[in-house]
Order: sequence, then structure tokens, then C-alpha cells
Amino acid sequence: MSSPRQQHWENVYSTRQADEVSWFQDDPTLSLDLIARSGISANAPIIDIGGGASVLIDRLLDAGHSALTVLDISHVGLTVAQKRLGDHAGRVTWIAQDVTAWHPPQDAFALWHDRAVFHFLVEAADRAAYVRVCFGVQV
Ligand SMILES: C[S@@+](CC[C@H](N)C(=O)[O-])C[C@H]1O[C@@H](n2cnc3c(N)ncnc32)[C@H](O)[C@@H]1O
Repeated sequence: MSSPRQQHWENVYSTRQADEVSWFQDDPTLSLDLIARSGISANAPIIDIGGGASVLIDRLLDAGHSALTVLDISHVGLTVAQKRLGDHAGRVTWIAQDVTAWHPPQDAFALWHDRAVFHFLVEAADRAAYVRVCFGVQV
């Protein structure tokens, strides 16, 4: 049974092309620059929270990163990215999940990327859940 939040995002990705949404970017320059500046090695595990259909994952693969995970509440959004990547989709771990209800393996990721997910969490309980998932601390 899907939640209203999941239904919302499934509907977004089912009714609009990836490049028709307001947050679409052809080239995620800022994210790529920040990730590069972090000095993270190519085999260090990176997760893109709420990656949806973003091309960030394509660019990270192109840059040689080999331990990539994308988590998103929308199966449809993830499927858009997987189809675009074709055979290369198998090089990425895909998790269809609401981040606020997720139980990540401890210390599994060296870098956590979130562009435009946290700010959708308008309820304090959801923000607290996000912080617990990301940092492992109760707020
Ligand atoms: C504004 S879009 C940004 C997509 C992508 N990060 C980008 O930069 O193009 C927000 C994304 O977060 C996902 N999302 C929203 N709430 C979520 C949640 N609670 N857990 C996981 N993903 C969520 C949506 O499905 C959508 O893909």
C-alpha cells in the first residue's frame, strides 16, 4: 500500500517528462563540483538521496565512481534513470524507499548527496526522522 507522499511522486514522474520538471538540470555542475571538492575516492560509497531521474548518477559513473546508490520514493522516477542508463544501470544500487522510514546499514556511505528532498519534509517528525537516518542520532 503506497503512502500519499509516494503517490504524489509517482504521479509527477508518470505525467511529466524528466526534462519538464522545474528542478531538471542537464548538467548538475554544482553537485559534481562539491563532490569532487570533497576529495572522495572513486571507490568510496556515495548515495544520492531522492535522486529520481537526475542525471547526476550518469555523470558520477562517467567520472569513474564505482560504488553508487540512488534512493528514491518513486519507482517510476528510478525506472526513468535506469532505462536511460541501459546496461550501465547494473553498476548502481537502486533503493525504492521513503528516506524517512529507511534503515540504512551503519556507516555504509562516505558521501550523502541530497538535492531538493529535505526541504519537502514540512513536518517536524519527518525532518527528525531524516536526521536520524542520515546521522544516526535522535533529535
Ligand atoms: C525535487 S525532486 C529532485 C530530484 C533530484 N534530486 C534532482 O536533483 O533532480 C525530489 C525528489 O525526491 C524524491 N523524494 C521526495 N520525498 C522523498 C522521500 N521522503 N524519500 C525519498 N525520496 C523522496 C522524489 O521522488 C523526487 O525524485
